[in-house]
Amino acid sequence: MARYLVTGGCGFIGSHLVERLLAAGHEAFVLDDLSTGKRANLPDSVPVTVGTVADPAVVETAMAGMDGCFHLAAVASVDRSREAWLETHHANLSGTIAVFDAARRANPRGPIPVVYASSAAVYGDNPNMPLREDAATRPLSAYGADKLGCELHARVADGVHGVPTTGFRFFNVYGPRQDPKSPYSGVISIFAGRIAKGQPITINGDGEQVRDFVYVKDLVRCLTAAMDAPRAGAPVFNVCTGVPTTVNRLAEVLASLSGRALERTYGPARAGDIRLSIGDPSNLRAAFDVTCDTSLEDGLRDTLAWL
Ligand code: NAD
Ligand code: UD1
Repeated sequence: MARYLVTGGCGFIGSHLVERLLAAGHEAFVLDDLSTGKRANLPDSVPVTVGTVADPAVVETAMAGMDGCFHLAAVASVDRSREAWLETHHANLSGTIAVFDAARRANPRGPIPVVYASSAAVYGDNPNMPLREDAATRPLSAYGADKLGCELHARVADGVHGVPTTGFRFFNVYGPRQDPKSPYSGVISIFAGRIAKGQPITINGDGEQVRDFVYVKDLVRCLTAAMDAPRAGAPVFNVCTGVPTTVNRLAEVLASLSGRALERTYGPARAGDIRLSIGDPSNLRAAFDVTCDTSLEDGLRDTLAWL
């Protein structure tokens, strides 16, 4: 049994991770500023420190005595990173450096490992599908640039300060507890919420854009496997399925699973929308013997059941 700090643990992905850690018999402690996360996403028994990762003193206190840290706290919105460039940078990059820095001193036995969230946003509009981890990174947003910055500082944490790190480039994650009401919500939570209520959806552009949708419960298996695995050299892995799904097909599957007629209108393409985003999961599988293999249908069934 280990003691883990989960930053961003009240959020969508973090709350699934905490659930998995508790089920495995570990102790989970959460640091979250509740900006998008909710206390109610977690059992009352989980200790939550309400505060920001951008404050090093807060991070230092929250991390004292831990055996490892899962760092998921971030302003997970490309739009928000455009509106509030410097503010999101403080949370997304300075906050990550504060986490790596505190990990050096958290435990008298030595630096503790940090498993952290990066994003497929680091690839930007690289057209070489499926994207491998060694593909060129050319982020198109402050959000993507800061996530790439996290990966660079992870190398410093490892090489200069002896803090072991593993980074994960999440592709499009979905599942229960992804807030359909948030303006920053992903396409699955928006469509699922509307289709289940018999409301129309808007498809941006022709709907033939492709995404690699990852079910959240598969993703958290990758995170816990990485915490337990030996690592060297601040590795970074895609978390993806390698399976392409168009936005049109997504809408059709959701309508069929909800037993509703699909009412869709086609609007203008979203400015800067990436046409293709598919990851190569080979390195993930080879390193941790995990696959994100929940079928889209099964994952969507769970998501609809939660609504
Ligand atoms: P989320 O918004 O549900 O979770 C983020 C959590 O971090 C929330 O609980 C929020 O309150 C908290 N938080 C935000 N800023 C904070 C700060 N300064 N200090 C402390 N807590 C703070 O989003 P999510 O989808 O669960 O994202 C989790 C992580 O995964 C993020 O790092 C995000 O960038 C990354 N990610 C998510 C996706 C996706 O498809 N959902 C894709 C790529 C990467
Ligand atoms: C996602 C991430 C983003 C990250 C990027 C990296 C989310 C919410 N966003 O963006 O943080 O930088 O991956 O690759 O996870 N769509 C519609 N109608 C809608 C909503 C969306 O047609 O009502 C379309 C979008 O135009 C897009 C697709 O669905 O083509 C997916 O959109 P979205 O879920 O916002 O994710 P990404 O744009 O892939």
